[in-house]
Amino acid sequence: MAVPWIHLFFFHILVHVIFLSFFFVSASLSDFSIVDYNLDSDPLNGDYAPPSPPPPYPPPHPPSLTCHEMRGIGSLNTTCELNYNVNFTRDVYLEGTGNLFILQGVVLSCPFPSCCVTINVTGHLKLKANARILGGSVYIVAGNASLFSGSVINVTGLAGDPPEQSTGTPKDYQGGGGGHGGRGASCVMDNKKLPEDVWGGDTYSWESLEHPFSHGSKGQSTNKEDDYGGNGGGRIWLEVKDIFDAWGALLADGGDGGIKGGGGSGGSIYIKSKKM
Ligand SMILES: *[C@@H]1O[C@H](CO)[C@@H](O)[C@H](O)[C@H]1NC(C)=O
Ligand SMILES: *[C@@H]1O[C@H](CO)[C@@H](O)[C@H](O)[C@H]1NC(C)=O
Ligand SMILES: *[C@@H]1O[C@H](CO)[C@@H](O)[C@H](O)[C@H]1NC(C)=O
Ligand SMILES: *[C@@H]1O[C@H](CO)[C@@H](O)[C@H](O)[C@H]1NC(C)=O
Ligand SMILES: *[C@@H]1O[C@H](CO)[C@@H](O)[C@H](O)[C@H]1NC(C)=O
Repeated sequence: MAVPWIHLFFFHILVHVIFLSFFFVSASLSDFSIVDYNLDSDPLNGDYAPPSPPPPYPPPHPPSLTCHEMRGIGSLNTTCELNYNVNFTRDVYLEGTGNLFILQGVVLSCPFPSCCVTINVTGHLKLKANARILGGSVYIVAGNASLFSGSVINVTGLAGDPPEQSTGTPKDYQGGGGGHGGRGASCVMDNKKLPEDVWGGDTYSWESLEHPFSHGSKGQSTNKEDDYGGNGGGRIWLEVKDIFDAWGALLADGGDGGIKGGGGSGGSIYIKSKKM
């Protein structure tokens, strides 16, 4: 059976606070695609060379934690229920042939830019009401997944480095916004240039548009000494074999730069599921 696609691509552009993210959804119901869009005629793709796409993911991961190590009940090979918050300080890998239920209000957190939270369960992943997963990158493979109301996977402002060679963060200290899916904005007034020729950070990762998994970029500060730019958004990858039941939220926004810095650009969200 041919697999048709829905591709959504969101740009959020606000003056001074800029969130530019890749957001990608694939499902088997429609054959609309913007990936067929001709990149050569892309007006954003003008006077600079885009960097090469990010390396394939997932990277090597640590051995799987057990349900017990997270103070949970049961086993990842049957059903593991987490009833206590867990704060991680480095990469997390959870693998099993069963279900993982993160119970109501429970937070799994690794709120560091380089931290990857990887969940790989054959059965059902449930984030019950108000449960949360925080990390720089959250990579999930599950048989079925349910995000109950109020639950959230949040990588906002937790970007690690953008792909190598990319210049998503503006070079000059003029408070420009980070770039990613589109160029960052800039509020600088320059008499020698048209307003539409004044920009913040550059775009990157258009090559991996079908499988977006790159961090957003930091916005630039207004002076060298103080770091006022907002951080970029992190990355969410959600690959569900059968049904993704989505009542919660996936957030990969860039961080706010305030009045003395540019906003970070948004990160990436990829969702693939047979049914959503
Ligand atoms: C789960 O099953 C796999 C084999 O399918 C085994 O390697 C792993 O140790 C088991 N994990 C637990 C926590 O029992
Ligand atoms: C763990 O993380 C939660 C949520 O981010 C936070 O409220 C809590 O204070 C942290 N606990 C510890 C022991 O660091
Ligand atoms: C998920 O676990 C299976 C084994 O159960 C393994 O073959 C597969 O490579 C893992 N996927 C990821 C993304 O880690
Ligand atoms: C997902 O849920 C459906 C309906 O409950 C079930 O038929 C199917 O086997 C589940 N898929 C997996 C991979 O567990
Ligand atoms: C997501 O994370 C950001 C940054 O930590 C925080 O400001 C925001 O309130 C969080 N959103 C939700 C819904 O938890």
